[in-house]
Amino acid sequence: MNIGIIGTGYVGLVSGVCLSAIGHTVVCVDNDKEKVKKLRKGIATIYEPGLQELMTKQIKRKKLFFSDSIKEATKRSQVIFIAVGTPSKKNGDADLTYVENVARQIAESMDSYKLIVEKSTVPAETGKRIEHTIKLNLPKQFKARNRSVPFDVASNPEFLREGSAIADFMNPDRVVIGVESKKAEELLKEIYKPLKTKIIVTNITSAEIIKHASNSFLATKISFANALSQICNLVGADVLKVTEGMGYDKRIGASFLNAGIGFGGSCFPKDVDAFIRLSEKSGYDFHLLRAVRQTNEEQKAAFVRLIEDKLWIVKGKTIGVLGLAFKPNTDDMRNAPSVDIINRLQAEGAKIRAHDPQAMEHSKKIFKGVTFCNDAYGVAKGSDCVVVLTEWEEFRQIDFQRLRKAMRQPMIFDGRNLYKNDNLVELGFEYYGIGRGEKS
Ligand code: UGA
Repeated sequence: MNIGIIGTGYVGLVSGVCLSAIGHTVVCVDNDKEKVKKLRKGIATIYEPGLQELMTKQIKRKKLFFSDSIKEATKRSQVIFIAVGTPSKKNGDADLTYVENVARQIAESMDSYKLIVEKSTVPAETGKRIEHTIKLNLPKQFKARNRSVPFDVASNPEFLREGSAIADFMNPDRVVIGVESKKAEELLKEIYKPLKTKIIVTNITSAEIIKHASNSFLATKISFANALSQICNLVGADVLKVTEGMGYDKRIGASFLNAGIGFGGSCFPKDVDAFIRLSEKSGYDFHLLRAVRQTNEEQKAAFVRLIEDKLWIVKGKTIGVLGLAFKPNTDDMRNAPSVDIINRLQAEGAKIRAHDPQAMEHSKKIFKGVTFCNDAYGVAKGSDCVVVLTEWEEFRQIDFQRLRKAMRQPMIFDGRNLYKNDNLVELGFEYYGIGRGEKS
């Protein structure tokens, strides 16, 4: 099938590459001309394991194209996915300016039946607003004819995670399609047929809510684990054992129950805010989610308090930071807990040395006064403590003797409980994890 994808961010680019890999001909569109130039040269504009290789392959097979023209993509495609950004406004609402703008441009370029699919995470009822925008902006010939307009709108939320996006897209737990017509249902089922997965068919609003609810539920699970970590510290329990004991219960499940320094990224913080706002506007106070958000903020503050407490005086101390990205296997720094934590430590007068395997380039634009190092040993050089903020695999493989020798004081604050099995105390470190029975 001929497919257009508008927006080449994480969701758009990965979806475009993967849809072409399962047999469709895809044109990915972005209004950033420089980005399109790079993509046309075959350069992946985001770091995502396996993306560059698959993209190169699909371009060579002439199944994947890039353009800066919505008009071109609309004319070439029967199905057009909208995957543009929906940033948060100051009041927590999702800003749908880009979505509206794209819908208008698609409408103006329509020359035959099109299925327009929202893939960006959007508040309930956005589907109806897209439909309205398209009707308003259809070319005159369609408006004039006294017959039904030649398009459908659908919702097809995406559940892929950064860092494992290709695998998630290719092997989804389910595909959700929100449709209002048989034709839209059939087209979307046809697109996803090669994935051989469970397809949940619903109306557009329910599909939109499924996405909000899924992300918010996962965020709730994380905040629950983080709240547990605080209680574990107070009563002398180990959160790793507690969540392990809970996770074997199939009704609970072990995933997304890892206590840490709070959830970040471009999705959870924004989506939780948007769901709270949506509920508020609809007349429901989602106080459960407000507590999830508050717990997430407090978790970062508690981690900084722990460091301050154990270091005694932070001013003038050198703190080595391992990991800056909001999670491993990505270079994404959006809402990374590292930003908040490093800012707080710098405000206390700490000198920061840091390394991240992929996010250094982006970090250099975000942080001021940070010394960026080539590896963990560079970070440790002269440090009064080392702080783990992202659980990259390469930090698991550290030579701790070498690390200890480089440090001024052998103290580790493990914000991701990365070293759960290593006996760092025996190796001569003072070790503090999250919720391991340590008072903060
Ligand atoms: C999330 C969802 O997992 C995807 O299903 C969804 O498609 C995506 O948002 C989206 O809406 O686009 P993502 O933000 O890429 O994916 O990353 P996650 O793996 O969900 O991690 C989010 C944050 O939670 C990270 O900061 C991570 O470190 C943190 N986390 C995750 C924890 O602190 N503990 C956990 O147990 C799991």
